[in-house]
Amino acid sequence: MIIAVDGPAAAGKGTIARALAKHFGYHFLDTGSLYRMVGLAALRSSGEPITARAAIAAAEALNPQKFSDAEIRNEEVGAAASIVAAIPEVRAALLELQRAFARKEPGAVLDGRDIGTVVCPDADAKLFVTASPEVRARRRQKELGSADYAAILADIRARDERDAKRTTAPLVAAADAVTLDTSGMDIAAAVAAAIRAVEAKRK
Ligand code: DC
Repeated sequence: MIIAVDGPAAAGKGTIARALAKHFGYHFLDTGSLYRMVGLAALRSSGEPITARAAIAAAEALNPQKFSDAEIRNEEVGAAASIVAAIPEVRAALLELQRAFARKEPGAVLDGRDIGTVVCPDADAKLFVTASPEVRARRRQKELGSADYAAILADIRARDERDAKRTTAPLVAAADAVTLDTSGMDIAAAVAAAIRAVEAKRK
């Protein structure tokens, strides 16, 4: 059983995907963390602006064990991730790792941008989790503490634009995905709706 959870930054897909994995007893992979690791490694080797050459080398040599969660969870690395993610060779280098994870028994939940469209087009259940940019910026601001709302909103819009407009594997809902707009939902309601959507596909 493969569950694909895609959507823009800060829509709640990570929380939902983790909760689904726990509920069904499946493995969980946050594929954004792979792009974040590549972004960070490329930043370290080439500095800014990140070169395609550094990004591709970082993706081909990626060892996820070498990175801590703390060092990849910040806005600078998020922006770097979105830049390296637009490079086709970087995406190609990360593809098999993700597909191998998806084959784990008894099932796997993968969250990202292109899981239902490119990584696992045959996934058993596909969710596209979204929310308005304003709601996502508020959530991110809460997560980060006292950060500047206007700057966060601008960053989210820039990231959406880069993720949606790139030519390779752009952020788009798969034709057979169930769209879940979490703008007016709290976490419990969003998770319950996601479980119902997956249950409907399992039957
Ligand atoms: O979900 P996140 O914020 O950790 O993702 C960071 C960046 O990685 C995001 O801007 C786009 C990219 N990404 C991607 O292109 N494909 C994925 N499957 C996951 C993330």
